[in-house]
Amino acid sequence: MQFIPPDYFRKLEKAEIFSRQPRQLEIDLGCGDGSFLAALAGHHPERDFLGIERLLGRARKAYRKACQADLDNLKVLRLEISYALAWLLPDHCASRIHLLFPDPWPKKKHHKRRMVSLEFCEALTRVLEPGGEFLLKTDDEEYFEESMDVLTGSSGLDEVSWEDGAFFYPQTDFEQRWLGQGKTIQCSRFKVSD
Ligand SMILES: C[S@@+](CC[C@H](N)C(=O)[O-])C[C@H]1O[C@@H](n2cnc3c(N)ncnc32)[C@H](O)[C@@H]1O
Repeated sequence: MQFIPPDYFRKLEKAEIFSRQPRQLEIDLGCGDGSFLAALAGHHPERDFLGIERLLGRARKAYRKACQADLDNLKVLRLEISYALAWLLPDHCASRIHLLFPDPWPKKKHHKRRMVSLEFCEALTRVLEPGGEFLLKTDDEEYFEESMDVLTGSSGLDEVSWEDGAFFYPQTDFEQRWLGQGKTIQCSRFKVSD
């Protein structure tokens, strides 16, 4: 389903995203064509999923995937991640937030467009519930190191291990693309500090 917020000028209530009895909510930032999220939503019908994507074509593809697979636990919001995280998403609503293969903006003059920053970490800890998790994957080693510096320096998040196969975690569209080109994937997992 598409998710169109009832009001863009205030923080939402969790029940405004999925109106049924609140359940675990996972948010995928930059969900692309939705392959990852649709696979995860199919595997976990007992949880709810929200994909955020700014490109219309990709948001539409993700939305169609949810409809074709009849996934009533997956919604897609077409919006800028930073706006949704800072101004729209409810406090402490999400059990997991995924940031998978964010645009690396390799040119130095574009580094300020990168997603992971101190403000981003603060927004994560606002939106994640106590004990909630943030999961990051990228093929860009330099961006990974920069992100890890910011994330490990953030007071609200603690790094935890993420062993291969520890839990069901489908490959994303971009992950398959990069693996097909022989690239190495970097992963990290953080928990909201107690
Ligand atoms: C490299 S793609 C990865 C897509 C998907 N996560 C995957 O792994 O297949 C990055 C995605 O994030 C989206 N994106 C980048 N910056 C964004 C922003 N500020 N707000 C919303 N979407 C964004 C892009 O449009 C793109 O679809």
